[in-house]
Formats: sequence, C-alpha cells, structure tokens
Amino acid sequence: MAFFNRKKPEHTDISSIEMPAHVGIIMDGNGRWAKKRGLPRSAGHTAGAQVFRKIARYCNNIGIKYLTVYAFSTENWRRPEKEINALMKLFKEYLEEALRDFRDDCIVMRFIGDRSAFSPALLELMEENEEIAKDREGMVLNIAMNYGGRAELITAIQKIADDVRNDKFSADQIDEQMISDYLYTKGQPDPDLIIRPSGEHRTSNFLLWQSAYSEYVIMDVLWPDFTEEHLNQALIEYANRNRRFGGV
Ligand code: FPP
Repeated sequence: MAFFNRKKPEHTDISSIEMPAHVGIIMDGNGRWAKKRGLPRSAGHTAGAQVFRKIARYCNNIGIKYLTVYAFSTENWRRPEKEINALMKLFKEYLEEALRDFRDDCIVMRFIGDRSAFSPALLELMEENEEIAKDREGMVLNIAMNYGGRAELITAIQKIADDVRNDKFSADQIDEQMISDYLYTKGQPDPDLIIRPSGEHRTSNFLLWQSAYSEYVIMDVLWPDFTEEHLNQALIEYANRNRRFGGV
C-alpha cells in the first residue's frame, strides 16, 4: 500500500501517540472468513461478534472515548432471511449479555440507525442498555444497526424542514453545526479514524456526513481475524498521517 499523506513516521508503538477521540470500524469480511473455512456465513458473524466484544473492551481500556461499529446497514436487509435471522439472534445475545455483565466496563451504549424495523424484544433490549449505561463514564459505544448515512441525512433534512415550517428558525440559519445536531451522533466528535478490514476501499454509506475529514485505514485482514495488534497498527498509521482539514 502506498501512503501519500504521511508525516515522516514518528510513531512505532501506541505508547507515544495521541489517541483519536473517535474511531469508527466497518466490521467487514465475516462472510469471506466463513467461506474460506467451508462454513455457513452465520459462523463468520458469530466469530465476528466475539472479535467485536474483545476490540470494544480494548478500545475502552486504551482510552478511546467514542467507538462506532457498523453492525447492520440499511442495505443488509437484502441478505437471505437465514443470515438476517442469525444476525438478529447475535444482536439479541450480545445485548442480553451486555445488560448482565458489562457494568464493570463502564461502557456507555448507544444505538444509531432507524430502530423501527427491529422486533419489540430487540428494541426493548436496546432501550434498557441505553438506560442502564447512561451515567457511566467510560467510552461511548455507538452500535450502528439499520444504519445508512444517506437515510440518516434524509431523516435530518426532514426534521429540519419541519422546524423551518414551524418557524423555529429560518432556512438561511442552517449551517454545518445544525446539521450535525440533527444526526444520531449529536454532541459527539466526528470520527478521526475509520478502520476498514477486509481490504475493501469503500465507505459503504457509513457516517457519510461525519467522516468528511476522517482518516481511513484499510487493512488486509478479515474481521474475524482482527486482533488488538491490528488496531494498534491502525492507530500508529493514523498517528503518522498529516491531517490538514483542507488547509496546507
Ligand atoms: C459485514 O461482513 C458484516 C456484517 C454485515 C455484520 C457485522 C456483524 C457482526 C460483526 C456481528 C456482531 C455485532 C454485534 C453488535 C453483536 P460481510 O458479511 O459483508 O462479509 P463479506 O463481505 O466477506 O461477505
């Protein structure tokens, strides 16, 4: 891989770096991982869920303040019913476990995306997890479920249009901050770093507005094989980049 936007590499391990405040991860490659082993795709998701548990805890432990993971996109409903059911089962298991066991991790759970498509049982678990964790002081974990960046923007634009119609403010007062405040990630910093394992070079509709200046690190590893060491490598790569935010 060629890196054109690198400073002279200063950092070779994570002890000397300034942690990005917000990291996004597109947890990609579960299906390919399973296929390589002659297993059903759902086995890849089960393995991916284990890695997600481990990496979320690790991010919290090393001082990342916000982690957003892409668990299910608005487009993922196009998958076979069997695979969707397996994913919903995994989400349910994870959320039950989080309610029982996650007190000590201090992780604040948030769900971003359109919840209206989920079963009442899953919806209740999402709400319970948000409620129980709301006063914790650890990392904010945003789980993107039935999330799509375009859908998020459409919802925001509709709400803004309603508020203009109701004379809350006028159209010429709309600015970047206001749009950010109508998104699911309201009040959170934009992601500094987005990691995409599995080698694909696409945003796949993930945090479209919020990622305007995010640094992408694409890694040649399938998500179920992703380790803390891969995360460290991505953090080091990020720390060695030269972020200019459109300046020089
Ligand atoms: C993309 O890989 C992955 C998903 C659509 C699902 C991600 C879900 C998990 C990691 C499960 C656990 C999550 C939680 C929150 C418990 P893919 O299936 O598109 O892989 P492929 O590109 O190799 O086919």
